[in-house]
Amino acid sequence: MRSLTLIITALLGVVSANPIETRQEPSYVGYLVSTFSDALPQVHFYLSNGNSATSFSLRNKGKPILASTVGTKGVRDIFLATNTARSEYYLLGTDLDINAFGFSWDIATRRGSRGIVVWKSTDLVQWSSPSLRIIEEDTAGMAWAPSAVWDDATSQYYVFWSSRLYSSSDAGHTGTASLDRIRYATTRDFATFSAPQDYAAEPDTPLIDQEFLRTGADSFTRFLKNETVNQVYQENGTGGLFGSWTRVPGYLRPESPLEGPAAFADNTTPGRYYVWLDNYTQYVPFETSDLQNPSWSAAGTSGFPTGLKHGSVTPLTQKEYDAIAAAYPV
Ligand SMILES: *[C@@H]1O[C@H](CO)[C@@H](O)[C@H](O)[C@H]1NC(C)=O
Ligand SMILES: *[C@@H]1O[C@H](CO)[C@@H](O)[C@H](O)[C@H]1NC(C)=O
Ligand SMILES: *[C@@H]1O[C@H](CO)[C@@H](O)[C@H](O)[C@H]1NC(C)=O
Repeated sequence: MRSLTLIITALLGVVSANPIETRQEPSYVGYLVSTFSDALPQVHFYLSNGNSATSFSLRNKGKPILASTVGTKGVRDIFLATNTARSEYYLLGTDLDINAFGFSWDIATRRGSRGIVVWKSTDLVQWSSPSLRIIEEDTAGMAWAPSAVWDDATSQYYVFWSSRLYSSSDAGHTGTASLDRIRYATTRDFATFSAPQDYAAEPDTPLIDQEFLRTGADSFTRFLKNETVNQVYQENGTGGLFGSWTRVPGYLRPESPLEGPAAFADNTTPGRYYVWLDNYTQYVPFETSDLQNPSWSAAGTSGFPTGLKHGSVTPLTQKEYDAIAAAYPV
């Protein structure tokens, strides 16, 4: 009896000393791409061919799965957020319809939508009606490219987006705005949000389209678009979302324009990562096997769909994969 107690105590000691190594990672069987198209700015789902990270098919018989009925009624830059328990899912999108009559980028960035479009689900199949959630202050010109990261320590999401800010004395937003920067707020339910704050801003560079890649329980790499050169760069992080960041020199790719990074880990090969970059027509996929000192090279495109736009890629458990395959046939 005594020795059994000692063994259990020793085992518990080992477990609590190494919480990360003993954490059970879910096993993933495929990937979901949540995206939109320029012609139909609504939510489109693509499902991978098993665990292939390059071969995908458009689901729901080629039709979007959700359409916005709020705000501009167009939705772009789709991001799927979930928590560690995977007990809830939120689809987020920019509230922007560039096909609308009279559309202009100038108006869209001075007096554009300060809200994001949100749908909620507990199973990836039954979705709430869309809500337009105003996340920005009235000094902001727009709220673009939302993404979110679940934080276990505080049981909430950190939501990020891009905006430019006008002087509080310029109610009509007719003057010169600040440079585009990354903003953030926290939320537990995507219904109420903390007051927005700056997250990443540069004195000489407009920044948009930030996306994180989680590389550990609280470690991240992030990708940002420099809008002066229309190229995407990488920063290695230490110390979590609010830790310190080291620029990987240069840009992911020499080509321009590229934007809207979607980053994810390979489900089966440890250490292999992908970034998809939108060349204003469609996503082009890149990969590396050394995320810390990467050289992003072209990934295979066998089975890679044409016309994929700024979206997100989510690894799926068997239950999630099966639910999507059944609810949204090819
Ligand atoms: C963005 O590109 C411009 C033009 O090359 C450069 O001056 C600036 O330093 C770059 N900023 C970042 C954050 O890469
Ligand atoms: C990225 O960060 C990692 C860990 O901090 C470091 O080992 C690596 O050298 C960094 N890479 C670059 C290009 O700075
Ligand atoms: C975007 O990438 C696709 C696939 O690589 C290529 O065919 C197309 O020419 C590119 N378009 C632009 C505008 O660079």
